[in-house]
Amino acid sequence: MRTPFVVGNWKLHKTVAEAQALVTELKNQLGAIRDVAVGVAPPFTALWPVARRLEDSTIALAAQNCFWEDKGAWTGEVAPGMLADVGCTWTIIGHSERRTHFGETDATVGKRVAAALRAGLGVIGCVGETDAQRDAGQTFAVVDAHLDGILAAAPKDWDKLVIAYEPVWAIGTGRTATPAQAQEVHAHIRGRLRARLGDAAAAAIRIQYGGSVKASNAETLLKEPDIDGALVGGASLDAAEFVAIVKAARPK
Ligand code: 13P
Repeated sequence: MRTPFVVGNWKLHKTVAEAQALVTELKNQLGAIRDVAVGVAPPFTALWPVARRLEDSTIALAAQNCFWEDKGAWTGEVAPGMLADVGCTWTIIGHSERRTHFGETDATVGKRVAAALRAGLGVIGCVGETDAQRDAGQTFAVVDAHLDGILAAAPKDWDKLVIAYEPVWAIGTGRTATPAQAQEVHAHIRGRLRARLGDAAAAAIRIQYGGSVKASNAETLLKEPDIDGALVGGASLDAAEFVAIVKAARPK
């Protein structure tokens, strides 16, 4: 009942020409797939040219972050309306790299989510614990706090909200969570969505897993009942790898 959603987070990679080449490959190879929703999140500089390339395609365009104000004296920021203007329909918010390196907090995440939804964007809100937090038995508490920050601005339309569970220790490390480890946290997240928003929301909101997802491990992760897709970093930079992950997400 939840259409799997696989998104490539390109992070700080790809020139305009490289981005256009990659997305052209994806368009050609994924055109016939209708049972998985697919998105790409290029760097800001490539959004507009990638949007042009994606015209007449079902691949969605996402930003990697968005600001909470619509305009004004905010040097270096990009407003949600500007992202919609260049063709974005989604934005990632609260990625652990934003939290770790740029001082993102649950409060600023909430402001960004609210602004993105106001502008009509869908939100992929990221949650996840560090290694030390997991070892200290704090995984659920950390994930709950991140989730509550995101849900401070919960939308009415559940299709517009996706939660990405990305354990920090699995991001870019090659150390993927086991399917059982991921499923345990996904089930917890769904339980909290149910407690906060009710049964219908919990049944509808998709929960992606992210952290060293590759073609070789996607299938076993995506088989888990509460894993509804993937947020893919490194492996999304290669067309063949990303296409294989999307195919692994197809409902069986
Ligand atoms: P990797 O797939 O490179 O581990 O990155 C995951 C991620 O951070 C996606 O947002």
